Amino acid sequence: MTSTRTGSAPVEASPSAFPTGFLWGAATAAYQIEGAVDVDGRSPSIWDTFSRTPGRTAGGDTGDRATEHYHRYRQDVRLMSELGLGAYRFSVSWSRVQPTGRGPAVERGLDFYRRLVDELLEHGIQPAVTLYHWDLPQDLEDLGGWPARDTAERFADYAALLADALGDRVGIWTTLNEPWCSAFLGYGSGVHAPGRADWTAALRAAHHLNLGHGRAVEVLRASLPRDARIAVSLNLHEVRPLTASAADREAARRIDAVGNRVFTGPMLGGGYPDDLLADTEHLVDWQDLVHDGDLAAIARPVDLLGVNYYTPTVVSALPHGQDPGSATASEAGHGDGAQSPFVGCADVLFHRAPGPRTVMGWPIDPSGLTDLLLRLHREHPGLPLMVTENGAAFDDRPTAEGSVHDPQRIDYLRGHLDAVRRAIAAGADVRGYFLWSLMDNFEWAWGYGKRFGLYYVDYATQARTAKDSARWYAEVIRRNTLPDLPG
Ligand code: FCB
Repeated sequence: MTSTRTGSAPVEASPSAFPTGFLWGAATAAYQIEGAVDVDGRSPSIWDTFSRTPGRTAGGDTGDRATEHYHRYRQDVRLMSELGLGAYRFSVSWSRVQPTGRGPAVERGLDFYRRLVDELLEHGIQPAVTLYHWDLPQDLEDLGGWPARDTAERFADYAALLADALGDRVGIWTTLNEPWCSAFLGYGSGVHAPGRADWTAALRAAHHLNLGHGRAVEVLRASLPRDARIAVSLNLHEVRPLTASAADREAARRIDAVGNRVFTGPMLGGGYPDDLLADTEHLVDWQDLVHDGDLAAIARPVDLLGVNYYTPTVVSALPHGQDPGSATASEAGHGDGAQSPFVGCADVLFHRAPGPRTVMGWPIDPSGLTDLLLRLHREHPGLPLMVTENGAAFDDRPTAEGSVHDPQRIDYLRGHLDAVRRAIAAGADVRGYFLWSLMDNFEWAWGYGKRFGLYYVDYATQARTAKDSARWYAEVIRRNTLPDLPG
């Protein structure tokens, strides 16, 4: 989302308590934690293929074992219970449920999620299901993947199977996680599975992810109980121009179009924005891509908008005469691909703000979260928001006694929770916060080296150890407030 301010949000400090009923959660995703990739009928997804391709992930890491959550889920639910979580956001592995991406469900695959959900409910933790967190069945990729329209229809069928299996026990449903990453990192820059670098394919993927979302909302709405809440989680970019110059503001507008409004436009009822269509008409034939009825299907209302936020995005225009090359987006924090993931924006430069960063290299700036939530509140009044991901990776190391002290993560979380609190005080309707992540896990192309968890995972033994931040977060949850901020 664009904003011309670069400082912190102009919002008064507020009482330190969160609203009554505020939902405190933690998040994970199937491929990052489950392991057990070849049991109970599961077939490969694009992430199995990608991570097994030499050179694609750091150290050649794969999700083959991950944190063995598939077999250790009971123990992991106990950890959640120790934290006092009100909700747990996890994703379903499509290729566990429908190995080829089509046809009847595999009951053994569904049974794992039934057992997990039952375990959560027994511990008083609300399950929040994400249907798709990037792991397309490889068979569907072989038929064209998200650039192919049929994938959207397959996704709706898969959503129906899940609604049927878990609809009686799951109250929060998220269709897609971060479709921007699926479309533009997967098919645009190629740093994520399936590793294609083709801007036209990326825009086609974006439209079919939008369509798949809309079709899934329709299916879920028709089969879930009335009080089920349906959402989508977007990694919206808080885009800030480096300077107030017209050229930098124009760069920010373009990144906002291909980074944010390509999803928020159609999903929230406004269609594809005219400026996006104009910016990308040389890459894709939108008339051909968007069929009659698609926009109405995509615009089916959601009950909650999930917001994933880690760091702001600072951009400027490439000075005249400079060769764009492929490195312009390397400072955007999305890995170095064959070309920018921001389609058609090879001439936009990205900058990392000075100051503290996480080990992902992402500058730490909580004001971006406040600004983002307030923009959504302004532009989509009445739409309840939920922070569905926020967190930080640091170089956590156990001490000789086995403790894991992570004061930087606590600082990060304190700052960002305060940012949420400020947005709420200024009127944003934020219903909950899901911390990324419950435990260290497979951080996609970065492998196991980046640790985001509240629980430290020793990958040799699979032992989980609460970091200091886990105890701190448990205290936040217990008190429904930020304990160490002045009220
Ligand atoms: C988000 C992803 C999540 C995790 C965090 C760090 O983009 O949704 O799976 O990798 O980043």
